[in-house]
Amino acid sequence: MIEIHNIEKSFDGNPVLKGISCTFETGKCNLLLGGSGTGKSVLLQCVVGLMQPDLGSITFDGTVFTNNKVQIRQEIRRKIGMLFQGSALFDSMTVAKNVEFPLQMLTPEMSAAERRDRVEFCLKRVGLENAGDKMPSEISGGMKKRVGIARAIAPNCTYLFCDEPNSGLDPLTSLKIDELIQEITYEYNITTVIITHDMNSVVEIGDHIIFLYKGLKLWDGTKDEILNAQVPELKEFIFSSSLVRAAKRIDDETHSGVENL
Ligand SMILES: Nc1ncnc2c1ncn2[C@@H]1O[C@H](COP(=O)(O)OP(=O)(O)OP(=O)(O)O)[C@@H](O)[C@H]1O
Ligand SMILES: [Mg+2]
Repeated sequence: MIEIHNIEKSFDGNPVLKGISCTFETGKCNLLLGGSGTGKSVLLQCVVGLMQPDLGSITFDGTVFTNNKVQIRQEIRRKIGMLFQGSALFDSMTVAKNVEFPLQMLTPEMSAAERRDRVEFCLKRVGLENAGDKMPSEISGGMKKRVGIARAIAPNCTYLFCDEPNSGLDPLTSLKIDELIQEITYEYNITTVIITHDMNSVVEIGDHIIFLYKGLKLWDGTKDEILNAQVPELKEFIFSSSLVRAAKRIDDETHSGVENL
């Protein structure tokens, strides 16, 4: 479990995170939900150590991360897998070399043969067993996300962070990527944190959802609770989704009972 306590962050005197406290639960898909500019990426960067919060603390399974010794921070960083927005593959490396890259960086004790086995295993796990020799330019957007997931989990991560894993994907491919992330989370009992604006993801894989609005956490709960949340800003966010608008329209026409939206 990752515990976030009272995180504050400002840029040039402009507060972006205004005292955020929340938890990301182990073995669950924790979704950071909110509109553009609400501070989701800044919060994620603070949690993974790419940015220093001005105030507050972050704890990974009981070990304090913020302001701790370099060695302890590095040990935690080693357990973190990241799926970056846009996949961020190295264009000049094959798919297999992309997946191997963090192993070379983080686990120098592995032999070349062990690394090859691990790459093969991870590519197979994401359904890309035959794509190792391809270049990123030769594969689709959905496949790139899969490579990004394989690369993130290659070093046996305990914590997996995904910044908008569905951006740029069609709805069916998005669903498959969501399902893959969820399966991997459950299978390896990973603490997964996913940044999203996507209501499809919320209702499919939102084990624990944290709603951010203008640098504040306004609500948290599960996918079963979110449609009944009584927070006006969250209701407005949900209702701005075309999926939910369509469901509400059908309900209005048929009076089938989708209420409280
Ligand atoms: N390095 C930075 N320097 C200055 N301001 C920043 C920096 N990073 C983010 N901000 C500001 O912080 C605010 C929150 O940005 P953030 O990227 O966290 O939004 P977000 O919720 O991830 O939005 P989106 O959904 O569009 O990705 C924005 O106003 C942004 O301009
Ligand atoms: Mg962002």
